[in-house]
Amino acid sequence: MGLEELFENNRKWADNVRAEDPHFFESLVHQQAPRYLWIGCSDSRVPANEIIGLKPGEVFVHRNVANLVMHTDFNCLSVVQYAVEVLHVEDILITGHYGCGGVQAALVQRDMGLIDNWLHSVSVLAKKHRAFLEAAPSVTDQLDRLCELNVIEQVRILCENALIRHAWLRGQRLSVHGCIYGLRDGRLHDLGATISSLDEIEPHSERALHALIERFE
Ligand code: CO
Repeated sequence: MGLEELFENNRKWADNVRAEDPHFFESLVHQQAPRYLWIGCSDSRVPANEIIGLKPGEVFVHRNVANLVMHTDFNCLSVVQYAVEVLHVEDILITGHYGCGGVQAALVQRDMGLIDNWLHSVSVLAKKHRAFLEAAPSVTDQLDRLCELNVIEQVRILCENALIRHAWLRGQRLSVHGCIYGLRDGRLHDLGATISSLDEIEPHSERALHALIERFE
């Protein structure tokens, strides 16, 4: 598909949207008020809006390789700050996916250059849970386990960040959820890792971790 086709697709899409709702674009020009922030993987097979059936204006999105949250990543944290402090989103969905190439690269520790630095924390996580991962019946299952572990870990990391902590201290209503998407069936699953207050950070991430480990025992 060439670029011309993309512009043609866009023209048809805009015409269709306008045919359904003549004021759709006008209404979005003046404001966006999404309830959700999606932090997901850059993988082209995991498009936020389509998967959860939301229109433009309904979900604020940040994506990077392996859906990581890092305290040194100004890109991700700027998105989080804007979403929480300006847009007042109520729910943050950290969404991983099975078969994630980024997580796989961290798992097999293949030398891939610059991206090894980005994925370092996932390698550390894999080492920490080595016994659980090695107990998996296949390499695919091992990867899927690490994809889930990674999401639960990112939920905890985000909740420990001052941006989220301060929001809760201000009394703002905000929940951080951990989800995983199946490339094979298109289904999104809640990992039961939701955290909605400072007190819940430790117990809820521990609970989600135990539930994951028990599910495979
Ligand atoms: Co991925």
